[in-house]
Amino acid sequence: MSQSITETVIINEVGPRDGLQNQARVLSSAQRLQMIEALVAAGLRSIEVGSFVSPKAVPAMANSDAVVAGLPRADVYYSALVPNRKGYELARATGIKALGLILATSNTFNEKNLRMSTEQTRATVLGLIEQSRHDGIDALVYLSTAWACPYEGWIDPGVVFAMSEEMFAAGAKEVVISDTIGAAHPGAVKTLMTRLTKEFGSSRLGCHFHDTRGMALANVYAALEAGIRKFDSSIAGLGGCPFAPGATGNVATEDVALLLAQSGFETGIDLERLVAAAELAAQLTGTAEGGHALRWLKRQREQGLL
Ligand code: COA
Ligand code: ZN
Repeated sequence: MSQSITETVIINEVGPRDGLQNQARVLSSAQRLQMIEALVAAGLRSIEVGSFVSPKAVPAMANSDAVVAGLPRADVYYSALVPNRKGYELARATGIKALGLILATSNTFNEKNLRMSTEQTRATVLGLIEQSRHDGIDALVYLSTAWACPYEGWIDPGVVFAMSEEMFAAGAKEVVISDTIGAAHPGAVKTLMTRLTKEFGSSRLGCHFHDTRGMALANVYAALEAGIRKFDSSIAGLGGCPFAPGATGNVATEDVALLLAQSGFETGIDLERLVAAAELAAQLTGTAEGGHALRWLKRQREQGLL
């Protein structure tokens, strides 16, 4: 008798960071923790909980240290984003064991987002990878604007390839190919991710999509076909970068979770509790519309079918 093995896909929830960083309503650390608790209850086991950035640049991410201190003690892979050495040191002091390091493929975006040129950002990230190896912290490199930059336009895939290669060689645990402004389309995703998985293997790569042009879920599927098994998403589709004009929310966690469940992948997510987490995110922020699948999921819940 043949037995099929269910493949696992990791959903890395970024709502508490990417989802909240651009909200008009700044949540307290207690509210941010309430959101994280709902996500953990829904079965998310990989969560980006905040960022250690200048509170003047991104007021919503102030007090991320209090968020890390209050995290539920569960078997969850928690990470936080840092833009520079100061952020790294603040994050390290909290005891968190995985850090996202940001490097955009385009010089203008590095300057607008981090006030550093690509050369300076690259040197900073390489230095932090080295430091993280010494400190026993996982370095997750976010290659932002990997398909397109809001200021410089389409990005040469060769640049993404070369940056990935350099980051892995330096000791990055993962490289997350990020469509910061939501400009990618499935054809471009499949081409780039097929090339990257062929070279670096799918287990060390992730994808991060925004839904600006309504293609985020199609892009997830294209990356899935290219072998990617780890995706960032944000509860209720919250999100957006303050330094990427016009970019909208991340692909919604409920949309990705449903896509994966219906396609036969294991994610460990309880859809009924995920709906509750989306409702809480909407209530706390006052803005989240929810993913495309949310209304249908709510109807299923009303009928006791989740
Ligand atoms: N965490 C907290 N404070 C920080 C910090 C960090 N990681 N890095 C710098 N600061 C503080 C400095 O101490 C300084 O404070 P002061 O004005 O009270 O003296 C102030 O921020 C300016 O520092 P400076 O080194 O001159 O930075 P900058 O003004 O060139 O800004 C960044 C650079 C990266 C710190 C800032 O642009 C930033 O935090 N951007 C956030 C980017 C982001 O989160 N993007 C979205 C995710 S991709
Ligand atoms: Zn993002």
